[in-house]
Amino acid sequence: MTQFEIRFQPDGRRINVEQGISVLEAINLTGIDLVSLCGGKGTCGKCKIIIEKGEIKESLTEKEKEFLTKDQIDENYRLACQIKVFNDLIIRIPEASRTGKQRLQIEGIKAPVKVEPLIKKFFIQLNKPSLDEPKSDVDRLNDYILKKFGISKLKFNIDALKSLGMVIREDNYKFTVCIWNNSEIITIEPGDTTEKIFGYAVDIGTTKLAGYLIDLTNGEVLAAGGLMNPQIRFGEDVISRIAYKDPQQMHSVVIEGLNELLIDLTNRVSIDLENIYEMTAVGNTCMHHIFLNLNAKQLGYSPYVPVVRNGLSIKNDKIGMKLNRFGKIYTLPVVAGFVGADTIGVILASEIYKHDELCMALDIGTNTEVVLGNKDRILACACASGPAFEGAHIKFGMRAANGAIEKIKIDPETLEPTYLTIDNVKPRGICGSAIVDIPAEMLKTKIINLRGKINKNLESDRIRQGDNGYEYVLVWGRNSFSKRDITISQKDIGEIILAKAAMHTGTEILMQKFGVKDDNIDNLFIAGAFGTHIDIENARMIGIYPEISLDKIKRVGNAAGTGSRMCLVSKTMRKLAEEMSKKIEYIELAVQPNFQSIFLNSHYLPYADLARYPITTKFLKKIGNYSEKKIRIF
Ligand code: FES
Repeated sequence: MTQFEIRFQPDGRRINVEQGISVLEAINLTGIDLVSLCGGKGTCGKCKIIIEKGEIKESLTEKEKEFLTKDQIDENYRLACQIKVFNDLIIRIPEASRTGKQRLQIEGIKAPVKVEPLIKKFFIQLNKPSLDEPKSDVDRLNDYILKKFGISKLKFNIDALKSLGMVIREDNYKFTVCIWNNSEIITIEPGDTTEKIFGYAVDIGTTKLAGYLIDLTNGEVLAAGGLMNPQIRFGEDVISRIAYKDPQQMHSVVIEGLNELLIDLTNRVSIDLENIYEMTAVGNTCMHHIFLNLNAKQLGYSPYVPVVRNGLSIKNDKIGMKLNRFGKIYTLPVVAGFVGADTIGVILASEIYKHDELCMALDIGTNTEVVLGNKDRILACACASGPAFEGAHIKFGMRAANGAIEKIKIDPETLEPTYLTIDNVKPRGICGSAIVDIPAEMLKTKIINLRGKINKNLESDRIRQGDNGYEYVLVWGRNSFSKRDITISQKDIGEIILAKAAMHTGTEILMQKFGVKDDNIDNLFIAGAFGTHIDIENARMIGIYPEISLDKIKRVGNAAGTGSRMCLVSKTMRKLAEEMSKKIEYIELAVQPNFQSIFLNSHYLPYADLARYPITTKFLKKIGNYSEKKIRIF
């Protein structure tokens, strides 16, 4: 029977299915959480999907005409239960068609900073002009602000000037001015609106967006939320985004995503978009350039230089966010290569720059950044770790949402697994935290060896030949949501090892550059969504990061987002961000002479350079997966 491949966005899942099955059936086989209340009868209208690529033979059915709006039809929406697979397809599952919200890490550590935003509001009560003193509105306003608040030489933008004459008279010369950086009046509003002053801080990740709505009078977070980065439809990693043929479209799509998130946050706390006057943004260099609509292509070619390194303050009307039209957008500075403004955010939030002790920070994502340093010196690099830990490229990988297996243990005697799912429902797939558990648990129980090879000689019906080599059955079909066995294949393990090898190579090269070893590291900060939920011991066991004692490991949540928030409310933090961007020594991994050998060694579990890591030998003996013969091969 002919088979076709379906790719699902934004999850990045792929499945090969037989010709002629319904798209709903195909989706159910993957375990993706699509709402289908009527079970495919076409009566609930909930199974809406978007056909991004590929041909659908069936024309719109009566049921689709009933449930889809004209706009949705124009945007290629279909009901999954009404159409069949006769081609390769790329299908997008809209958030509204999902059964459960994805668990996105948006919380970061609390990093208290003095609230001193660049945007401030001042309530003004001018005297009426008179024939005795017929000064212009601007002169009288300038005199008042200088006398009352000590601010001089204010610039007025032309739009503020246009409204000035009317607005100040609207409430009998009582009005509020919004001033940026003590230098520019950006809006003038009738009456006293000084309490209504808000900001929006974002972290633009390759896979996820996180946003925070902040009260600029006191720095409080009023609402926070996350969303998959809609650019995923153009490719999963930064390289595919850079290579995409239409950079303008890429820019527009991320602005749409950030606006969608902003509208959601403001609706939650009933805040008017007009009262959001400033936004700060962090992201790796590629995300930063795409957000600003700068040429990201040059980041794809040696020597990978960014267009601009320093932080930028620009007018919102140049970007098109749905905050106040005259508001400002500040992007934190980047460093070099793919080490971007998000790394500056992590450094500010974790305060590595203050520490006497040596600290390492890992911001784990599709692009992982590693930082090593203290108050005297800071090194940073970026690793192309890929989306395996986000669930992509893993056959049953999925986002951290309803039904995702998030924790796995395997009994060393029986080789039987136990697992936990998000929301305690039937398992649909495996999310990032459990993807770390897989090789660790399989290594402990000797289901795989140090090279990640599945031991086919073990006596267990869970180990069997599959489509992609040997596989371990984690969940029998009778217990899974899709009724299919949920398995971990040899190929999946290879993908996980590849991702962890990239990260390990980064940490190893930075340590060599700094001239330190694992036990010299006093603090290890794990940032990012993935870092928040992983078993830190299992992550160490597979060699994601150096072998340091667990009490030195601290999870710092979305530290990049915290850094963005800090810069939104603090001038001092922006100054510090600029200093950090100049101070950090960027290390380009690919040009290091020992890059290849370290990367190769990192393909072992946890890694292979045992001469340099005597502790590893002990560790392997402890877990019973050590053989002198194998070690000598390395
Ligand atoms: S599942 Fe109900 S309309 Fe498709």
